[in-house]
Amino acid sequence: MAEQQDQIDRLREKIRQAKNVAVLTGAGISAESGVPTFRGEGGLWKQFRAVDLATPEAFSRDSRLVWEFYNWRRELIAPLSPNPGHYALAEIENLVPNFTVITQNIDGLHRKAGSKRIVELHGNLWWVRCTRCESLREDLRVPLPELPTCESCGALLRPHVVWFGEMLDPAVMDAAYEAISNCDLMMVIGTSGTVQPAASMGVQAKRNGASVAEINLDPTPYSDVYDIAISGKSGEILPRLLQA
Ligand code: OAD
Repeated sequence: MAEQQDQIDRLREKIRQAKNVAVLTGAGISAESGVPTFRGEGGLWKQFRAVDLATPEAFSRDSRLVWEFYNWRRELIAPLSPNPGHYALAEIENLVPNFTVITQNIDGLHRKAGSKRIVELHGNLWWVRCTRCESLREDLRVPLPELPTCESCGALLRPHVVWFGEMLDPAVMDAAYEAISNCDLMMVIGTSGTVQPAASMGVQAKRNGASVAEINLDPTPYSDVYDIAISGKSGEILPRLLQA
């Protein structure tokens, strides 16, 4: 516990001195809001097979099933609220000259909490994209029709998320790498570090000379590589960084 407090104090001091902070978040930051993670106990990929639900092939094979999965996630997440971890990051953004949240999460909770500069690597559950004309819009209906169609051209819509086997949007990647290469401090929060390219972003920041701090309930493959590794719940640790 004394060691944890010491690490929190070190990180607080680094935030105080930093001009450019990049934060990478994963499912763990939303866990205390009630959003299931992917790999831990009760994780989504323990109950469902990603290949059946989160690949372009699955969508071509059975669009109805894939939409059923995303409608279920919409129903689950719609009533949930940001937790103290999300709110603390939004507050820290106001204290640092340049602050970017890069998130793998599609739940939209960082925006709900008030974070302003957000890079959503894997898309957003609340946006839909046309499979023909590519038009993109926010759609907050819960649930969406079984097979929702485009207002402009009538073709099938798909969730605006990145599936396994798909490329990340190059503009989104550019925004993420700009934040990573310019930061003097990076915080990596609530991610297991198993999915690329996000998994190696902390190491890249470190190679660029930034200090890197991890906040996670459990150790990850990177805990020993980073400068600071704080073991605990992000909803409890992040607010403590704001204490004077
Ligand atoms: P994972 O489910 O792989 O990992 C969640 C991490 O959060 C684990 O390391 C947990 O120990 C940690 N954790 C859980 N509760 C926490 C808490 N309260 N505070 C802090 N840490 C906590 O989720 P991601 O790393 O986000 O991609 O997964 C990466 C990607 O894999 C996802 O974006 C998704 C998934 O397949 C796509 O769908 C493309």
